[in-house]
Amino acid sequence: MTAEPTRITVTGPTPYDVVVGSGLLGEVGAALQGAARVAVVHPPALAHLAAQIDVPGRLLLETPDGEASKDLSVAAQLWDALGAAGFTRTDAVVAVGGGATTDLAGFVAATWLRGVRVVHVPTTLLGMVDAAVGGKTAVNTTAGKNLVGAFHPPAAVICDLDVLATMPPDDYVAGLAESIKVGFTHDPRILELVEDDPAGARTPKGPHTRELVERAIAVKAAVVSDDLTEQGGRELLNYGHTLGHAIEKAERYRWRHGDAVSVGLCFAAELSRTAGSLDDATAARHRDVLTSVGLPTTYDGAWPDLRATMSVDKKSRGNRLRFVVLDRLGSARLLEAPDEQVLVAAYETVRA
Ligand code: GLY
Repeated sequence: MTAEPTRITVTGPTPYDVVVGSGLLGEVGAALQGAARVAVVHPPALAHLAAQIDVPGRLLLETPDGEASKDLSVAAQLWDALGAAGFTRTDAVVAVGGGATTDLAGFVAATWLRGVRVVHVPTTLLGMVDAAVGGKTAVNTTAGKNLVGAFHPPAAVICDLDVLATMPPDDYVAGLAESIKVGFTHDPRILELVEDDPAGARTPKGPHTRELVERAIAVKAAVVSDDLTEQGGRELLNYGHTLGHAIEKAERYRWRHGDAVSVGLCFAAELSRTAGSLDDATAARHRDVLTSVGLPTTYDGAWPDLRATMSVDKKSRGNRLRFVVLDRLGSARLLEAPDEQVLVAAYETVRA
């Protein structure tokens, strides 16, 4: 692993760098110039990492683990803590954790005084390659997941690859689904790196880890630089997510996001083949590469329930269902209101 960090710049209304490398926790302070107070938000298990964010005026704020933290009551506790500490517009929030922590802390930063700086320190593969980059923030409500939030780009994203070593193996593998997704939609070299050494891809110690992470971040950075608010190209990052989100909901969010997206990618590939122009070999490659790293490619839920959930997917417009499909490797587009029989047939191919 090279010692020098890589800086991937996200452009747009408020440009920032995503820094990737080793031993980077010391970089956080550099992104917080002018802050007199810094709230470091973290789940209990990451208290030791949060303690390494050594900045003046630090306030350590512990939140519940996982999705349970993305709740308005937790956001309210954080707002109260910022108020008690006298946080002003020049102060800042640091999120240390996975996607749930960066979503929550980003939401609190977006809303406190109508927006203070946030620096994300993602500690999971999914957080690094997806959740922490692009400025989406959210909490969950009874109406659903991520329906309340704001676009609030971070001041920096610090991806210290060393912290990936502490991840549970199955969570790490689930994060690969998002990297493989952008391998199909934007950067096929990612697929070649996984196919070259699937066992290596399953672990942060693998030979291609840094390149896999950097390539996936580079895709995300380029896409959100052009389309922060998801009016165009950013929608294509939802490849595999329409069925994936429906599976997550059917499973009451006990399935890992990446596992659900993995099945969703196989479904979307089949839809791309039958309702579009994707060739058989590229469609089959989805199942092969996802299986090679141990991700699931089948699901046994009832179609009517999944179909009903998909109707209220965030990509839908009015009553028209929209899917992301591939025309060919590296070229994605939206497909509106496909024939119901085509959807049912595509689902049959992933049904366990
Ligand atoms: N996770 C998809 C996006 O950030 O747009």
